Amino acid sequence: MTRILVTGGSGQLGKCFNYIKKDYPKILFHFLDIDQLDITDYESILIYIKKLNIKFIINCAAYTQVDLAEDEPDKAKMINVLAIENLVKISKSFRIKIIHISTDYVFNGFADEEIKEDHEPNPLGVYGKTKLEGENVILNSKSKSIIVRTSWLYSPYGKNFFKTILNLSKSNKKISVINDQWGKPTSGLDLAKAILKLINSPKSFDNKIYHYSNKGITTWHNFAKEILELINSKSILVPIKSIDYSFKAIRPKNVALNTNLIETTLNLKIPYWKDSLKKCLKIVE
Ligand SMILES: NC(=O)c1ccc[n+]([C@@H]2O[C@H](COP(=O)([O-])OP(=O)(O)OC[C@H]3O[C@@H](n4cnc5c(N)ncnc54)[C@H](OP(=O)(O)O)[C@@H]3O)[C@@H](O)[C@H]2O)c1
Repeated sequence: MTRILVTGGSGQLGKCFNYIKKDYPKILFHFLDIDQLDITDYESILIYIKKLNIKFIINCAAYTQVDLAEDEPDKAKMINVLAIENLVKISKSFRIKIIHISTDYVFNGFADEEIKEDHEPNPLGVYGKTKLEGENVILNSKSKSIIVRTSWLYSPYGKNFFKTILNLSKSNKKISVINDQWGKPTSGLDLAKAILKLINSPKSFDNKIYHYSNKGITTWHNFAKEILELINSKSILVPIKSIDYSFKAIRPKNVALNTNLIETTLNLKIPYWKDSLKKCLKIVE
C-alpha cells in the first residue's frame, strides 16, 4: 500500500482526490483538513508523519482567496510560503515526496503564446506573489518534491466558477461574465488523476515544475455559455469587460499553460475542457 497524506483535505482539490480514491485500491489516502493538520504548525505535521508511515504528501492546503489576499498579505504568506518550509523540512527529514500545487497566477498574462514551465513568472497580486514564493521554497530546497501548476480549477466541490454559474442559473437573472480574459479551465478530477500518475512515475520527482490544464483555451464568458447550454438554461448571459468589473486584485489577461512536459513524461492524454465539463456536470446532476 502506498500511503499518501492529502493536506487541505476538505478543500476543492482535496475532495476531488477523495472522489477518485475508489479507483486506486493500492493507495491508502489520509485526508486531513486544517482542524486536524495545520501546515503552518510544524509539530502538527510531525504528529501525523510519525503516526502514519507516509510516503507522499499532496499539498492541497493553500490560501486561495485572490482578492482578500490583497488585505491579508501576512496570512497569505504564512500559508503559501512559510508553511511550505515546514513541508520541505519534513520531506528532507523523513524522505517523503511532496507534490505541491501552484497556479497560473504566478504569470502576468501578457504572453500571446502557450506558457512553458520555464517562462519567467511575474505575478500581479499578493496571491500570485505568495504562490511564486512557495514554489521557490520547494525549488531551492532541492528536495524530492515537484510542483504542479494549474489554472481555472473547477469541480463538483467547494467554491468555483462552474458552481457559481450553476447557482446563478437557478435565479433566472441576467448573468454578466468577463469576455476578455483567456485561460484553460481545468477539472479538479482530471488534475487529481494526473497527479496520481506522477506519483506512480518515480522518475518525475526531480524537483521541478509541471503544468497541467485541460486542453483548449477559452474565456470566462465562453466557459459560462458552455455550462448554461449543457443544462439548457434560459438565463441571459451578458459579456462584459474586466475593466467594468471591480476586483480588488488584478487578474492575468491571458494564460494558457503549455502541458507538453507532463504529457510526454507520463505519456498522458489530457482531455479537452468541454468533455471534462460534461463529466463534471454528470456528477453534480
Ligand atoms: N481554485 C483555482 O481556480 C485554482 C487555480 C489554480 C491553482 N490552484 C491551486 O490549487 C490548490 C488547491 O486549490 P483549491 O481550489 O482546492 O483551494 P481551496 O478549495 O481553497 O482549498 C484549500 C484548503 O486548504 C485549507 N487550508 C487553508 N489554510 C490551511 C492551513 N494552514 N493548513 C491546512 N489547511 C489549510 C483550506 O481550509 P479553509 O477553507 O478552512 O481555509 C481549504 O480547505 C491551491 O494550491 C491553489 O493555489 C487553484
